[in-house]
Amino acid sequence: MLQGKKVLFGVTSSIACYKAADIARTLVKSGAEVQVIMSANATKLISPMLFEHLTKKRCLTDTFAPSPEMKVEHIAAAQWADVFITAPATANIIAKFANGIADDMLSTTALACRCPRLVAPSMNTAMYENPVTQRNLDRLRDYGYQIIEPAVGLLACGDTGRGKLAEEAEIIEAIEQAVTDKDMYGQRVLISAGPTQESIDPVRFITNHSSGKMGYALAKAAARRGATVTLVSGPCNLEKPFGVETVDVISAADMREEIMIRADMSDIIVMAAAVADYRPAYVANQKIKKDDGGLNIELERTSDILAELGAVRRPGQFLCGFAMETENLLENARGKLARKNIDMIAANSIRVAGAGFGVDTNVITLISAREEAQLPLMSKDDAANEIFDHIMNMRLGY
Ligand code: CTP
Repeated sequence: MLQGKKVLFGVTSSIACYKAADIARTLVKSGAEVQVIMSANATKLISPMLFEHLTKKRCLTDTFAPSPEMKVEHIAAAQWADVFITAPATANIIAKFANGIADDMLSTTALACRCPRLVAPSMNTAMYENPVTQRNLDRLRDYGYQIIEPAVGLLACGDTGRGKLAEEAEIIEAIEQAVTDKDMYGQRVLISAGPTQESIDPVRFITNHSSGKMGYALAKAAARRGATVTLVSGPCNLEKPFGVETVDVISAADMREEIMIRADMSDIIVMAAAVADYRPAYVANQKIKKDDGGLNIELERTSDILAELGAVRRPGQFLCGFAMETENLLENARGKLARKNIDMIAANSIRVAGAGFGVDTNVITLISAREEAQLPLMSKDDAANEIFDHIMNMRLGY
């Protein structure tokens, strides 16, 4: 996503500016070109040389420094950038951005930027909560800046509260979202992910090997492309995707309930969850004690959420399911497409290397009434984008 993107990266004098070096490094490793601009005070905490070595670009610090290329540096930098992020952003730089003050290289460049602008505040809680700072942040939002909210935690000053620089992953994700085409803007997308757990007794349950990675990748991809995304997630050990409303559920019945509440309002529904097909017919109130014999657990069917959605779909709604098979992949997947009355099914086999549960890659065949597209081995992030490319093409009639 960041390959070849031009990131203008403002660094100011919050103690968290040491984290900016990691962020710059990650951006460069992701293929981005990074131009750092430091405030004068930030250079008292970190040497510009550090960023120059990380980014292989001269670090800009002074509006009036001679330009080797005879450029008006702040204008050239602003015009060059695909995205402008300031992380960490002090209360002072936020106040300058919010009021159009242009008295140093960073604030002057900010004023000249037309690209998406992001600010990740980092400061003491009292400074952050001060109505002046809050009003300045509101102003920035009004001017189209995206604020990457600070986290709550132990601050460098010793206080605990809101003001900690957002996590690097969140900042990188916000940058990726900012540079991605918003071709799904206006689409309301509902995605299910992960396994479900079906209780046997208060300490045991039946589940499956789904990690949730494919569903989370889908949620992240749709959010980056501008969709309004809700993710209904079974129990997973994954970071909540940035900019996505996530609803946690446990059982197939919980998942059905949360999906059904939202289905009518959704333009695209992708059921990536490995929903249990069966659950114990009775859940014991107390822990089941073992004895010498075996144990039979009577199972009953859960509702097939996707088939229910297919039966009551509203006009124009797009339904996509997944088929995870061990044999007769395409035949089984085609059967599910027809039986469940859906628009597309993403078929994958756990017998294929690089596909299936837990791994970061997938090998998918997309089956719809109009095509069967065999995708090569690719990351789940790329597969998610391919799936939405096909869905959007079908929706737009291409
Ligand atoms: N699904 C669902 N509700 C269920 C079970 C599955 O919505 N109770 C959805 C899955 O999210 C997935 C698709 O249906 O999109 C999978 O189809 P399914 O026929 O249920 O596949 P399996 O669960 O693998 O079942 P089978 O034994 O028929 O292969």
